[in-house]
Amino acid sequence: MSARIPLLIDTDPGVDDALALLMAFGDPRHELLALTIAAGNVGLGHTVANALKLCDVAGVDVPVHAGCPVPLVHPAADAAYVHGQDGFGDTGYVPSARQADPEHAALAIVRLAKAHAGRLLLVMLGPLTNLALALRLDPDLPSRIGRLVVMGGAVTGQGNTSVPAEFNIAFDPEAAEVVFRAFPQFELVDWEAVVRHGFLHRDFEAWLARGDARAEFYGAISAHTRRWSEGKRGDHWHSADALAMAAALQPEGVRRAEHRPLAVELEGRLSRGATVVDWLRRSGRPDNARIVMDYDQARFEAQVRAALGA
Ligand code: RIB
Ligand code: CA
Repeated sequence: MSARIPLLIDTDPGVDDALALLMAFGDPRHELLALTIAAGNVGLGHTVANALKLCDVAGVDVPVHAGCPVPLVHPAADAAYVHGQDGFGDTGYVPSARQADPEHAALAIVRLAKAHAGRLLLVMLGPLTNLALALRLDPDLPSRIGRLVVMGGAVTGQGNTSVPAEFNIAFDPEAAEVVFRAFPQFELVDWEAVVRHGFLHRDFEAWLARGDARAEFYGAISAHTRRWSEGKRGDHWHSADALAMAAALQPEGVRRAEHRPLAVELEGRLSRGATVVDWLRRSGRPDNARIVMDYDQARFEAQVRAALGA
């Protein structure tokens, strides 16, 4: 048995997904088994193509499994305005010659959880649709997952896609409800933590300039998003999935976390997709969420620089 920790990433690349994936590709403590692909930031055809292309750029040959093209119940808008129409900054890159694996993402999650029972680190960087389907196929799945890390939510209602909701959860709230009810414990890196852990645009541009071929490709696909971010959010850039990946790969960098009951609002006219945290424990429900509140910023930035060869 490999001493490395088996790692499975579900993702909707997406510019910040791409940075998180580059961090994982280069991590020596983990064995990346596969990528399972969700629709979210952009449509599934683009997210699959982007995952295959990024693997080529990084010289990584892992199976890429396409998942669900739509949310479980209700349709949802994508985030092409942030990531570009193709999800990778509309650079017109030459597509990978590789094809996705024929096995559906949900089936791959079920299979790999059984193959690595008790050890698998599962990192969710997009909407939770594929994991929800996997849970419907295999209700015992949570017992086989070593750690579940989710990028999603806004734990005090400061969202990025509506007033209270964050994109990954709001894109498929029913899937999130299935996941958060099924797992007795999961780690959550929410949007509000991401906002607390930005990096200066000028620093990031310097890392890109010092980096290797990964940095060159990443600079191209992220240019649209970085320009959009500067106009909307000022001098810091926020890479949500990169922070979640940092906490997943190097949990020792978490400086503060809060355990609380967390549930998803499905019905609210103003609040559908919100992650409702029972901070005062009024509900009597168990603490299912380990909410990352503070991560070692220097450690985070070191992981990002390493992913870019900077
Ligand atoms: O809210 C940020 C999350 O939504 C990130 O995972 C980003 O890639 C989008 O999927
Ligand atoms: Ca994502």
